[in-house]
Amino acid sequence: MNNFTYHNPTKIIFGEGTIATISHEIPKDARILMTFGGGSIKENGIYEQVKNALKAFTLFEFGGIEANPQYSTLMKAVDLCRTENISFILAVGGGSVLDGSKFIATAVFFEGEPWDILEKNAKTSKFVPLAAVLTLPATGSEMNGFAVISRKETGQKLAFGRPPFTNPKFSMLDPAVTKTLSPRQRGNGVVDAFIHTTEQYMTFPSNSPVQDRYAEALLKTLIEVGPVYFTEPENMEAAKNLMWAATMALNGIISCGVPVDWATHSIGHELTVLQGIDHGRTLAIVWPGMMRVMRDTKREKLLQFACRVWGITDGTDDEKIDTAIAKTEEFFHSVGVPTRLSDYQLGKEVIGKVVENLKKNGFTALGEKRLVTPEKVEEILLDRL
Ligand code: NZQ
Ligand code: ZN
Repeated sequence: MNNFTYHNPTKIIFGEGTIATISHEIPKDARILMTFGGGSIKENGIYEQVKNALKAFTLFEFGGIEANPQYSTLMKAVDLCRTENISFILAVGGGSVLDGSKFIATAVFFEGEPWDILEKNAKTSKFVPLAAVLTLPATGSEMNGFAVISRKETGQKLAFGRPPFTNPKFSMLDPAVTKTLSPRQRGNGVVDAFIHTTEQYMTFPSNSPVQDRYAEALLKTLIEVGPVYFTEPENMEAAKNLMWAATMALNGIISCGVPVDWATHSIGHELTVLQGIDHGRTLAIVWPGMMRVMRDTKREKLLQFACRVWGITDGTDDEKIDTAIAKTEEFFHSVGVPTRLSDYQLGKEVIGKVVENLKKNGFTALGEKRLVTPEKVEEILLDRL
């Protein structure tokens, strides 16, 4: 195990009915900006719940943050924060609203071109505090300091983070918010949480049994609960467990002191930029190919995954790995998520574009051993036609 520092300052308030208690968590004199997405919170009553809970506060609103939050939209919110002297941001939504709000919170006090925070890792020193009411379990953004922002004008989707300053001060996790999610968003969330876990687990052994077994607990829980959550929107026990698993999958706990991969995410982000495919769905396309093509570098962990997560004990090592890959793909299908480029009417033509975009952004040596080169990306995607 490598040395590490772990500090996660986000307070989690978990359970049905908790949104009503937000007012206890925000300074009384705060000038709050409530950020949200395209309107789902107005249809499902979450908007009303938040507004009621914050009646006593000075509250401004900024809606319209799109899925895969766009830089140009977020900059409008930055202007509003500056004009209205906003002192607290409350993000109400899924990963896109939370990520967008983290960027707003960072850009408000930034002097210069804020895109440099993403593209050039520009130095930042002052942040608006933010918190979240999560409406979609998937990304883990509710308990981490990272964000992914898109800019359609330049065809980029880039990540940044300034933890602990960009961690939500608190996040409200009310499983009842999931009732109105579409099957598509449910499936996306299950797959995203699963692949966050594998990105931090399926690398090479580092003698870190606690992290390994935490990761395996998350994977097994997602396999058990995911299909129930997917098919039974009213099942709050499934929603609770799914929500907590998704948060735990990317709050930094399972990556303490271990090698991490993240190549599937980098490739997936380009598929979103080029084809508009939902984040979780891009991962379901790439990941089976990643396991197959990178099986030599990941061999020991793949065998551990096959045995401990899927209970596969028969066959040669390669047969066990193949069975584990097939079962993982079946699992994605069981939550309604397709796993091939052809499921999106895409063929070979998209592969070259993904590779070019990765090169343009400098992502030419990805993965835990930096062995996922442009040639490997091509091989991985050819496996996914
Ligand atoms: O915009 P509204 O109208 O709110 O609708 C949203 C959106 O259309 C809808 N939705 C959310 N909660 C709902 C709901 N519909 C009905 N009922 C509810 N309770 O769902 C749609 C998708 O929302 P979005 O926030 O885009 O989804 P998700 O949470 O999957 O977030 C995806 C974004 O997070 C980034 C992704 O790259 C992508 O940009 N990620 C962030 C990470 C992080 N910060 O750590 C890590 C992830 O790997 C990921 O990259
Ligand atoms: Zn993800």
